[in-house]
Amino acid sequence: MKITYYGHACLGIEIEDIRLIVDPFISGNPKAKHIDLEAIRADYILLTHAHGDHVLDVEAIVKNNPEAVIVSNAEITDYYADKGFQTHPMNHGGSWKFDFGKLKYTIAIHSSSFPDGTYGGQPGGFVIESKNKNIYIAGDTALTYDFKLIAMRTKLDLAILPIGNNFTMGIDDAVIASEFLECDKVMGYHYDTFGYIEIDHEYAVKRFYEKGKDLMLLSIGEAIEL
Ligand code: NI
Ligand code: MN
Repeated sequence: MKITYYGHACLGIEIEDIRLIVDPFISGNPKAKHIDLEAIRADYILLTHAHGDHVLDVEAIVKNNPEAVIVSNAEITDYYADKGFQTHPMNHGGSWKFDFGKLKYTIAIHSSSFPDGTYGGQPGGFVIESKNKNIYIAGDTALTYDFKLIAMRTKLDLAILPIGNNFTMGIDDAVIASEFLECDKVMGYHYDTFGYIEIDHEYAVKRFYEKGKDLMLLSIGEAIEL
């Protein structure tokens, strides 16, 4: 599994020859100017919730990838199905076997409405259980005790957690989240994009390290192989 960080909460995930894009927000991110949105190929578009900083580039990606299937909660997929896009509706706690692995839509403590005011259902995250590796993409969320439930069901190889504070949990809560998730490998996201969510990188890495955990803060465009 290859994971590319496209900035903010946007991820590219390749599982064998299947390509997923999560929460596309590139054209609106001044820090991601070097990412070529037009070049992104996707078989699936996973959306955690409807906020603009997670769905801004859905249309642009579908234009270049008309067969891409949008996977999210039913309110979000209804919104895109009305535009004629391919969709797969889910809701919290449900999982489905896709060709890239088993995907579960998990709970998140946050809000979710589209930039045009349309109700976007309840926000979520995703657990992906692929052939070899299991990852959790938390979406925008507060720290919640429910993270323990994810660890009860899935042995995670990587947790992708928001660490920017203000709109989501911050560094110290994310350390506790990684303990609840029983996962020592963490990738931080949803930080530094704008003023409210700027973080101290050194402090963040140190806080995780003190608990025996590895925090990865990728450059925008950088990829890791799991
Ligand atoms: Ni949000
Ligand atoms: Mn957000």
